[in-house]
Amino acid sequence: MSSCFPCSRSRRLDPGTHDPEFDDELSEIRINLFSYKELRKATNDFSPANKIGEGGFGSVFKGKLRNGPMAAIKVLSSESRQGVKEFLTEIQVISDIKHENLVKLYGCCAEGNHRILIYNYLENNSLAESLIGGSRKSIHFNWKTRVKICIGVAKGLAFLHEEVTPHIIHRDIKASNILLDEDLNPKISDFGLAKLIPSTVTHVSTRVAGTIGYLAPEYAIRGQLTRRADIYSFGVLLIEIVSGRCNTNRKLPVDEQFILERAWKLYEKNELVALVDTSLDGEFDPVEACRFLKIGLLCTQDSPKLRPTMSNVVQMLIGKKDADEITVTKPGLISDIMDLKNRSNPKPEQDIDLTTSSNYDSSGSNTLVNTSFTFAPSSQTTATFSQSSI
Ligand SMILES: Nc1ncnc2c1ncn2[C@@H]1O[C@H](COP(=O)(O)OP(=O)(O)OP(=O)(O)O)[C@@H](O)[C@H]1O
Ligand SMILES: [Mg+2]
Repeated sequence: MSSCFPCSRSRRLDPGTHDPEFDDELSEIRINLFSYKELRKATNDFSPANKIGEGGFGSVFKGKLRNGPMAAIKVLSSESRQGVKEFLTEIQVISDIKHENLVKLYGCCAEGNHRILIYNYLENNSLAESLIGGSRKSIHFNWKTRVKICIGVAKGLAFLHEEVTPHIIHRDIKASNILLDEDLNPKISDFGLAKLIPSTVTHVSTRVAGTIGYLAPEYAIRGQLTRRADIYSFGVLLIEIVSGRCNTNRKLPVDEQFILERAWKLYEKNELVALVDTSLDGEFDPVEACRFLKIGLLCTQDSPKLRPTMSNVVQMLIGKKDADEITVTKPGLISDIMDLKNRSNPKPEQDIDLTTSSNYDSSGSNTLVNTSFTFAPSSQTTATFSQSSI
């Protein structure tokens, strides 16, 4: 059974602890509030031993809350200094979203300068750690489990895209944002964090190394952000889960380094099955695996319009909609439009600013998107624009 908090302790803000100026508006907000003191206690003063990760938003600590359950406590970095009211308004939106494939935001702390999010703790870490990039540890992901993960993530994203109002574009679908509970059920994390970090914050470089291979070309190059950019990222993730490898692997022969390039070449030769993770030892359904890989290619089509919606993706994954009929063309490859080189002594390169001016879907629909960030190439991967191809 997955871990979850017992009964919700939603409570109104205590007007006595806040600026009276905001009291009227804040009294409408219902969310679990934690004091900084109790979070310090839960994490043993945010000790390094309790730190479970660090991402673009800040550090994440494991901690035992007052009423027993384990929590993942995300301390937002100093850039995310929103006012209490703005912060709580955003948090309210996220905490109201409930779906079995989305990580549950349990509460927050907005005391003084602290901005902290408290999530349900997921026992089996992220897909990045446990399946794709990491050491693979002790977990064996058999085919059935992979199918469950792919379909679960698709359902969670379809919910954000099509059922939540206003619709939410995640903006950062990737293996490290797919967490797994003790039964290996997938939960999408970090959705709806729009506006928690001001758009003026430019360098969030920790987000980049693991993000570039998931970026839809139109988003990477022109900052065009629609739900279709998330669908592209999902397509990359889907192929990663089936193949058990990271989207970019510099250790492989040159023509196999980029997963989408490899998938497309194999698809053209009708040999997609060769991409399926060899650690499955042949124990998988080849027709289903090839269907999943083909759906991954469909999701990553260069033209956003050719990518299916997430609800259609779910239907295709579960076999209720026929994916065979749909023609697949070459996917949009970021490696085609950016000059990605492995350099032994990289010099600081020009940053590529992916900051979008709006927090809303550029298609014009009433869709909330995740936070803005700037693409600052990491030391392992140097990315420069190839002017001729923009
Ligand atoms: N709810 C949670 N339960 C268990 N572990 C978590 C939880 N949330 C985060 N983590 C761990 O903390 C790590 C860091 O998470 P964080 O979201 O800060 O960074 P990230 O996902 O690597 O990058 P990004 O900032 O781009 O999302 C995750 O990879 C995961 O291992
Ligand atoms: Mg994350």
